[in-house]
Amino acid sequence: MAVFRYNTTMTVNEIRQKFINYFESKDHKLMPSSSLIPKDDPSVLITTAGMQQFKRWFSNEIKPAYKRTVTIQKCVRTNDIEEIGDETHLSFFEMLGNFSFGDYFKKEAIEWGLDFVEKELKVDRSRIWVSIFAGDDKTPRDNESEEIWKSLGITDIREFGRKDNFWGPTGTEGACGPTSEIYVDDVEVWNLVFNEYYMQPEGVLFPLDSKGVDTGAGLERVAATINNLKNVFETDELVQIITIIRELANKQDNKAEKIITDHLRGAVFMLADGIRPSNLDRGYTLRRVIRRAIRYGKLIGISEQNMCSKIADKIIDIYSSNYPNLKSEKSKIISELDIEENKFLNLIDQGLAELKKKSSINGKEAFELFSTKGMPFELTLEIAKEENIVVSDRAQAEFEAEFEKHQEVSKGGLEKKFAGGLENKDDPKIIRLHTAAHLMLAAMRELLGPQVHQKGSNITAERLRFDFSYPEKLTDEQKKEIEDWVNDKIEKKLNVYVVETDPKTAKEKGAEGEFDARYGDKTTVYSIGGDIDSKTAVSKEICGGPHVKNTAEVGHFRIKKEESSSAGVRRIKAVLE
Ligand code: ALA
Repeated sequence: MAVFRYNTTMTVNEIRQKFINYFESKDHKLMPSSSLIPKDDPSVLITTAGMQQFKRWFSNEIKPAYKRTVTIQKCVRTNDIEEIGDETHLSFFEMLGNFSFGDYFKKEAIEWGLDFVEKELKVDRSRIWVSIFAGDDKTPRDNESEEIWKSLGITDIREFGRKDNFWGPTGTEGACGPTSEIYVDDVEVWNLVFNEYYMQPEGVLFPLDSKGVDTGAGLERVAATINNLKNVFETDELVQIITIIRELANKQDNKAEKIITDHLRGAVFMLADGIRPSNLDRGYTLRRVIRRAIRYGKLIGISEQNMCSKIADKIIDIYSSNYPNLKSEKSKIISELDIEENKFLNLIDQGLAELKKKSSINGKEAFELFSTKGMPFELTLEIAKEENIVVSDRAQAEFEAEFEKHQEVSKGGLEKKFAGGLENKDDPKIIRLHTAAHLMLAAMRELLGPQVHQKGSNITAERLRFDFSYPEKLTDEQKKEIEDWVNDKIEKKLNVYVVETDPKTAKEKGAEGEFDARYGDKTTVYSIGGDIDSKTAVSKEICGGPHVKNTAEVGHFRIKKEESSSAGVRRIKAVLE
């Protein structure tokens, strides 16, 4: 196996660590990256920014568990998929971010941003310029940020309009605000967003009571810039993926190598978070990147069967120390990639044959090829170009119109299927009681003994009813101890983590749950006060969720009643107040 010599002064992993250390030293709570499947936000299909997991903290719908956080967030952005293959664009990337919820604002955000870039990343000031929001009829010019930059001695301050220097919200509504960006050598490396507004779905802006800071810096862009590399694909982690691709290919083509690297890395992370290839929503995003990678693989003569999983193997290797779910999900990632690759290769042969019969193609026909043969639109375009097939001017718009129609139909079906059953699951009162139930079970297993297991539960917005195995009536002291234990954990403001894994791993890592066939081969484990690997987590349970993000949201816990349910099974009724 070749040993890589990195022509870098700072590896990608050193940058991750420096960023975390720096903001931890400024009292930021390190939080894990959230899943690429956004939780509790139907307006967004896939996680595109670090602030996504904090949307409800910024808007104060949920009281922030911390005033300051720092994260490295997995993000997928496919809106500029055709730019991938250039020097700075990636469809999957890790975003370094620091966040303030009603705490510090522009002054600290800017000072720390500059300090980190100069002192930690060792970027010479002569390479730096910054931008501010120029103002428009809706929002005033950001004079305050300009003053702060000036006070720090920065003189190259440029101003831009809404398109460049106003950010958010993700999806149809949420926090947003003017931004100030840090550029190094004309590359935008860090976006500082000052969340002062809430945008409603109709586009109306309201000032937020509590202002916040949301920042984002693309990890590889930072790495490439500070290491004076020509592009993000030369950074020490991505270059290892490129190398594997080169070994498999019989032609060297930089653009194809970059596309395959980027797309398969994204696919691996999406699969690890439970997304599966399909023709709908995020499943389609995943399918599109896998199929585009395969197509470019063919272009550079990769003849290997299962090229995706061979490359994925390396990707998992590189990233699993920072993202352990890549390892726990490895067998599923690999088999899903193999299945999708085989499906696509069969279809594409048929699609290509049909396309080649044509001398021209419009959007409807392209959609037909997509829906029947799985041919992604941009592939059809690329092939049409190669084969000198005329593409109608309106092809893109026609394709999109057909695509939307198709999505409406599928969504309608899905909504019908799930009507009823799930609607209450999102009630915040039920979510809080659900987390309280996990804490209570953990309390009983610690205080009464590990023979206690859950035998059933029923939660309404008003109360929790919980059956558990225990041979005798609880004493008043025991009930009090359980209440105190649970309330202590609530007061400690513990984070709740969720990870998807298989039941065997869940059990090995100490998760509570009934390990029977009911779980299938995939389960989610919710843990409190530490992730699934943590030795100090106070609770780990197999469960479908949802749960609060932090126990601070739960409220005060009280047991109202304890009684017999059936032989060897007791029942507790509990409330939050
Ligand atoms: N949320 C901001 C962005 O994605 C930081 O650029």
